[in-house]
Amino acid sequence: MDIAVAGAGYVGLVTAACLAEKGHRVACVDVDIEKVMLLQRGMSPIYEPGLEELVRKNRERLRFTTDYAAAYRRADVIIIAVGTPEERDGSVNLRYVWEAAKQIARTVEKDCVVAVKSTVPVGTGDELARWIAEYRKHPVHIEVVANPEFLSQGTAVNDTLYASRIVLGVESPHAEKVMREVYDPFALPYVVTDRKSAEMIKYASNVFLALKISYINDIANLCEIVDADIEAVAEGMGMDPRIGPRFLRAGIGYGGSCFPKDTKALCHLASRCGYELKTVRAAIDVNEKQKLKLIEKARTYIGDFHGREAAVLGLTFKPGTDDIREAPALANIAVLLEEGANVKVWDPVGMDNVKRIFAENLTYCATIEEAIANADLCFIFTEWPEIRQFDLCQYAALMKTPLVFDGRNCYDLESARKAGILYESIGRKQVGAAESAVLVETDER
Ligand code: UDX
Repeated sequence: MDIAVAGAGYVGLVTAACLAEKGHRVACVDVDIEKVMLLQRGMSPIYEPGLEELVRKNRERLRFTTDYAAAYRRADVIIIAVGTPEERDGSVNLRYVWEAAKQIARTVEKDCVVAVKSTVPVGTGDELARWIAEYRKHPVHIEVVANPEFLSQGTAVNDTLYASRIVLGVESPHAEKVMREVYDPFALPYVVTDRKSAEMIKYASNVFLALKISYINDIANLCEIVDADIEAVAEGMGMDPRIGPRFLRAGIGYGGSCFPKDTKALCHLASRCGYELKTVRAAIDVNEKQKLKLIEKARTYIGDFHGREAAVLGLTFKPGTDDIREAPALANIAVLLEEGANVKVWDPVGMDNVKRIFAENLTYCATIEEAIANADLCFIFTEWPEIRQFDLCQYAALMKTPLVFDGRNCYDLESARKAGILYESIGRKQVGAAESAVLVETDER
């Protein structure tokens, strides 16, 4: 099939590469000329394992262009995968989706199906269908399908090639037939429903995962108070097949481009309809508070941060990506700087993005050792393998006072105890708390 993909962002690019891998001829369209030129040279503008290889391997079937008219004119299917950023009030900005719809209406010269992959509020597909039918330039039949995706950053290629399901929100058997032709080569299970339900599946799924994380974080906080261990609790809960083990990792909360945005968007949609989604509101509140949990813990040891040397390990919202959108590290760094700490940071791939926000206000370190050397305290915000495998004894050896606040439970408590550090994590016992009093008392700031 001839498929055009509108948008070469995370979703568009990965989708285009995977469709080409499955034998379709794909034109991926983006307005960003530099991005397109990079892709034409076989290089990926984003850090995503396996993506660059896939782009290069499928060169013959996959092209990148800024010329949307040429790409859309004779396509069998056009996939809209443009960004849907968040507005200040939590609503979704659909500017780019409408931009793509207008380009499609202006240029399409043969019957085609438009599949919306961008995360859009329930009802958007219906509006697009009405609008395109009214304003299309040529007398062709253009059907709109809701086709949400569920890929996670860092595993996006795999998540697309081996997705748990293909969701199709269709309003006609013809649209279903065409979309099945697109996805049959993937040999994945289908969920076929109406457009609005498909749009809701996307939000309801993402928000459910966010709820699960906030719930486990809430329980983790309670575990700390009653002296229980969240890791054991999560394991015991996860073995119940009705609950499942995934997304039960307690930490400093969720970040990224989806959960924070989608939780707010769903609440916004509900309130516009006069309904209050109380569970989701609670999940958002818990997450906001959880983000700064370690800062609050650190205060109990160190008083205030003024003049302190703080090391920050891990900046991205999760490992395996250079994306720092809504990363908990950012909110924490902002507090540390505001309160007068000197902050040294380390991350294997996220530092360039962080530089764009904090510029010269941080010291960017090439190694973990450099970041923690002479530090008064150290925060861990992303569970990178380099951090997990880091020799714990180095904290004691290199830091001025070995206070380690781990927001991702990277180390086991026994190893931390043996390494002689003061180790605070999430939902687990403190390690080395007795010594900490001594550390702080003898500190001569
Ligand atoms: C998410 C969804 O998983 C994906 O299906 C959707 O299409 C887009 O949003 P992504 O944002 O890439 O994907 O990352 P994900 O792995 O889901 O993690 C999101 C955040 O939750 C991260 O900050 C992560 O650290 C956090 N998280 C995840 C936890 O704190 N605990 C967990 O158990 C799992």
